[in-house]
Amino acid sequence: MSDIITEQATAAASGTAATEQFRSKQRTQAADVDTKRVDTLVSELLAAAHDIIRRHKVTYAEYDVLKSWLIQVGEDGEWPLFLDVWLEHVVEEVANENREGSKGTIEGPYYIPDAPILAAEATLPMRDGEEGTALLFQGQVRSVDGTPLSGATVEIWHADNDGYYSQFAPNLPEWNLRGTVVADDRGNFGIHTIEPAPYQIPTDGSCGRLIAAAGWHAWRPAHLHLKASAPGHQLITTQLYFKGGSHVADDIASAVKPELILDPGPAADGDGREVTYDFVLDKA
Ligand SMILES: [Fe+2]
Repeated sequence: MSDIITEQATAAASGTAATEQFRSKQRTQAADVDTKRVDTLVSELLAAAHDIIRRHKVTYAEYDVLKSWLIQVGEDGEWPLFLDVWLEHVVEEVANENREGSKGTIEGPYYIPDAPILAAEATLPMRDGEEGTALLFQGQVRSVDGTPLSGATVEIWHADNDGYYSQFAPNLPEWNLRGTVVADDRGNFGIHTIEPAPYQIPTDGSCGRLIAAAGWHAWRPAHLHLKASAPGHQLITTQLYFKGGSHVADDIASAVKPELILDPGPAADGDGREVTYDFVLDKA
C-alpha cells in the first residue's frame, strides 16, 4: 500500500480558492452603481421572491431550510460557484448580445490571470505522462472585417483527465493545463494539450446539497476555457465543447451554444485528435 497520502479535493477547499480568486480581481465597484438602479434591481428581485412565497405557500420550515442553506453557502465559500453555475450565463447573454464576432460564454469560477506566456505553437504546462487523449487546438484570431490580428493572445485553461483544475484541487502542479499563448503576426496559434474530461461541480458542499435535494445532476460537459484578445478589439471569454460528449445537451451551467461545439478529427501526426477554431473579435 502506498504511503503517499492523497489529499482529497473538497468543495470547501475549492470554494475557498474561488472566493479568494474573485476577491483578488477587485471587479466589484459598488460606488459605480447608482441608488436608483440598486433600488429598482433589488426591489424587483424581492418582489419576485415574495410572489414565489405566496404562490407556493412557502412554510416556516422551508424558510428556515433556505436560511440555513444560504448561511452554509457562505461558510463553504461556494457563492462564486453558485452564481457562476446558475446566474452567469444570463449576465453573459446580456453583456454580449450586440457582438458580431465569435460567441462567448461564461467564465466560471476557475480562471486565474497571468498564466505562463507561451509561443504561438506551444504545449501547455503538464505533468510527465499527463493522462488523456492528445489534442492539438489550432486556429487564427481575426477581426470582424477579416483582418488577421497580429499581437493577439489566447488564454486557455481546462480540467485534466479526472476533471480537476490546477490551483483549485490538491496535488496538481501550479499552472497545470493553463497558459497564455501569444499568436504569431498573422494571428495564428497551435496549442498542444490533452482533452479535458467532463466533471461534476463539487458535490460535497452546499451547491451539491441543493442539486441532490432538487434531484438534478452536477455535470458539466468536457470543455476548454478560453479568452482571446488583441489590440483595438474586445476580449472574448468563451468555452468550447466536444461534439457527442456527455452532457453537451444538459450542462448544469447552461453555458453550451451550438457555435461552441468542436468536432475534432484524427491528428495529422497520428497522436490523438486535432481541431481548428478561429476567433473573430469585435472592434473595441
Ligand atoms: Fe470549467
